[in-house]
Amino acid sequence: MSGSLLIDNIGELVTNSPGNGPLGIRRDAAVLAEEGRVAWVGPSAYAPAADHRIDAGGAAVLPGFVDSHAHLVFAGDRAAEFAARMAGQPYTGGGIRTTVGATRAATDDELRGTVRRLRGEALRQGTTTMEIKSGYGLTVADEARSLRIAAESSTETTFLGAHVVPAEYADRPDDYVGLVCGPMLAAAAPYAKWIDVFCERGAFDVDHARAILACGQAVGLGVRVHANQLGPGPGVQLGVELGAASVDHCTYLSDADVDALADTAHSDGSGTRTVATLLPGAEFSTRSPYPDARRLLDAGVTVALATDCNPGSSYTSSMPFCVALAVREMRMTPAEAVWAATAGGALALRRDDIGVLTPGARADLVVLDAPSHLHLAYRPGVPLIRQVIRNGVPQ
Ligand code: NIG
Ligand code: FE
Repeated sequence: MSGSLLIDNIGELVTNSPGNGPLGIRRDAAVLAEEGRVAWVGPSAYAPAADHRIDAGGAAVLPGFVDSHAHLVFAGDRAAEFAARMAGQPYTGGGIRTTVGATRAATDDELRGTVRRLRGEALRQGTTTMEIKSGYGLTVADEARSLRIAAESSTETTFLGAHVVPAEYADRPDDYVGLVCGPMLAAAAPYAKWIDVFCERGAFDVDHARAILACGQAVGLGVRVHANQLGPGPGVQLGVELGAASVDHCTYLSDADVDALADTAHSDGSGTRTVATLLPGAEFSTRSPYPDARRLLDAGVTVALATDCNPGSSYTSSMPFCVALAVREMRMTPAEAVWAATAGGALALRRDDIGVLTPGARADLVVLDAPSHLHLAYRPGVPLIRQVIRNGVPQ
């Protein structure tokens, strides 16, 4: 489709621009998209003419979801592990090595097929931006190809060579850290924007995590950290120390962790420099306690919601599902959850061109089969995404 696109007759438009409440809601509104960008937002009655038109019929429209944390490059699944958990087994992260074995054995086209299938699934559920991590290859060649394939589907790619220490390095983790910082980073960096480490007991300790993240920073990658997922630990404060864009999971936080995040607040009141990204699909699927979103929000910490889509701890690509969980289980209001799944995710990726519907932003938007954003949590499990527009183009 070429030319401009007008979406009019919008009953409730979530813009996420300051004013008009937390979501910047406008009623009876219209949005004009030109050349992939939002060109105009205003009252539907005054909408300009355009080459193409979508009549929202009074429905709600919001920015496309920004899923800032997903692991899509893998082979196989771990449904049996999920069933065992539901029968009482704990989640330890030990199954990551199972997926590493399957991923190494897969062809490029098999991996590409999985990424495209999951990316398509997410798009149909309203996700217009999706971060994609490596982390199931854990050799120089397998991490590089994971990122090369990820980069075919997203510009938000993350090198997670430090997901776990692979079995062949089990008794020499220092050597593995050397490999990650040396040849693996060199091979991965051309395809990556970010570096991430699973800083957790049983994965990487704080010294190894700091060394790896610093190597990534030195070659220009931004920092994100898997932190405090399975128990208390130093990951969140390490992320703050290194100026991470986001610390992810945040399930077990001390007061000092929350304070450290709150202390990264921008002076203009626009939130915290380090975002806490909460991943309720993981707690759902591992039957763990949910993170305390309320405590973070009340301390002024910027919160994002993401899926953590992966075959072990959270095999969902659905941002609406995460919004519903956050409202029901994490004491977020529907407005806070929708904001966290759109503008919050954008901040977790340090992006100001997505997650908002204001002139100049990317024309990424979702038309709901519902009159209000409230329905995303109010009607869980119902396919409420009527239409997705990405870069100004109906999908
Ligand atoms: O974010 N925590 C580490 N990584 C993933 C889980 C990966 C897996 O179990 O395969 C996560 O939950
Ligand atoms: Fe993850």
